[in-house]
Amino acid sequence: MLFPDFRARRLREKNAFRRMIRETTLTVDDLMLPLFAIEGKGIKNPIPSMPGQFQLTCDHLVKIVREAYEAGIPAVMLFGLPDKKDPLATRAYASDGIVQKAVKAVKESVPDMAVVTDVCLCQYTDHGHCGIVDNGKIDNDASLDLIAKTALSHAKAGADMVAPSDMMDGRVGEIRQTLDEENFSDIPIMSYAVKYASAYYGPFRQAADSAPQFGDRKSYQMDPANSLEAIREATMDIEEGADIIMVKPALSYLDIIYRLKEEIDLPMAAYSVSGEYAMIKAAELMGWVDGKKVVMETLLSIKRAGADIILTYSALEAAKELNR
Ligand code: PBG
Ligand code: ZN
Repeated sequence: MLFPDFRARRLREKNAFRRMIRETTLTVDDLMLPLFAIEGKGIKNPIPSMPGQFQLTCDHLVKIVREAYEAGIPAVMLFGLPDKKDPLATRAYASDGIVQKAVKAVKESVPDMAVVTDVCLCQYTDHGHCGIVDNGKIDNDASLDLIAKTALSHAKAGADMVAPSDMMDGRVGEIRQTLDEENFSDIPIMSYAVKYASAYYGPFRQAADSAPQFGDRKSYQMDPANSLEAIREATMDIEEGADIIMVKPALSYLDIIYRLKEEIDLPMAAYSVSGEYAMIKAAELMGWVDGKKVVMETLLSIKRAGADIILTYSALEAAKELNR
């Protein structure tokens, strides 16, 4: 059908028709809010490169989780900043570590909020890498045991789901086996399967104090040029027992989300990372874009590309908008 028989605008003019034929709907059910937990009490430290985001002691953290719960957000993702760092990341798997305490605090006061924990070592190692360092190299296999121990300690603290972000080969299998052996066979794993070595993580590394102290993460995170490799990474993690596959970052990788959605049959998550958040906030603060509208359009695009779950620092803001 061609013009003038076909006029696309016939179904665009009235809001009722636009609603009827809308192909993609974003809902609060799609959102997961990442939060940063710190030791202490009564502290709410603004993160300079992420306006509106804070490092939170457990008392403040719980308040935000309750607010998120009341807005209908089904899950939060917890990151921890430990009181001390060492080469073996011992505070990552301590039963009284920061994430373990934060999980307990949240589950105690908002039991129906699903708590997902980021499993990695980079906030806990003094060198800032996601695995153990041996002779200036990241030792993949030596890291697996500590990563699995960290995931187990989160499950023991009451986490509802664990999410390894370290990108060591084989860690999903190791975590699955450890959880199963310790009677946590019902705890799902959301794997950061397709995680690119991205400059968009800059603000996060300031927020989580997790920048590598030498070199970069290119030896274990993916090359932004690759997309076939994304299928390999996802397939490997699925075979090792992942329940949800994540792509990260989101906005510059919508093609990867779309492609994986066609190729795999598991739920998919996409992480709209700190740099994506910071760019929109910065433009909004300059008065150059309507931040709220850009956030909603961006989240919609991630959903349209194929993500079932969107991790975003804008989750609370977006939920409020969706509830209006
Ligand atoms: C660390 C980790 C990173 C993020 C989540 N977990 C950063 C990195 O790999 O350096 C990034 C999140 C964001 O930028 O919002 N394993
Ligand atoms: Zn890491």
